[in-house]
Amino acid sequence: MLQIMKNQITVIFILLLSGVILTGLTFNEPETKDSLDLPTIMRLIYMDIQTINEGIYTENFALIEQGAAAINEHPPLSDETTALVKKTLGDRMPAFGQYDKLVHDTADSLKHAAADHDMERVLEKYQIIQQGCVSCHLSFRNEITRARITAE
Ligand code: HEC
Repeated sequence: MLQIMKNQITVIFILLLSGVILTGLTFNEPETKDSLDLPTIMRLIYMDIQTINEGIYTENFALIEQGAAAINEHPPLSDETTALVKKTLGDRMPAFGQYDKLVHDTADSLKHAAADHDMERVLEKYQIIQQGCVSCHLSFRNEITRARITAE
């Protein structure tokens, strides 16, 4: 009887363990160091913005921090996308880089504001980020999308 119980416990333990391993594997984030094309990165950071939004409206500062950190640590651009952007923008590349830097730096400040539970500063930084996103889009988005579609 005791032996059977021991076996059952072993089986349950193995089932639980493989469950943990399998879910761990399934829900593993894609390798964050893998480079991606620009539209994919943009859709990812758009999801991060939605995370931040939810955090703001539910006053969940941990969510805001998480979204801000994810924007700042987005995967690198693939060589292909970088080449396309450089070719399309030429000597306007520094302006593109400045918008990118503005969004990164402000995402970092947003993360700290959220860590401090300072909603006023959170909103201030959030607005600067939004302006950075939209300014870059207004300046460069159509041109780069067109160049990408033509190159495909
Ligand atoms: C430095 C410039 C720049 C900044 C900053 C920027 N974007 Fe973009 N974004 C682009 C460009 C260029 C495209 C078009 C890419 C393409 O079509 O190849 C784009 C496209 C997008 C798209 C459409 C993706 C699709 O499915 O085609 C979304 C959504 C987006 N950006 C969200 C954001 C958000 C949110 C932010 C700020 C947190 C942001 N972007 C900041 C340049 C920028």
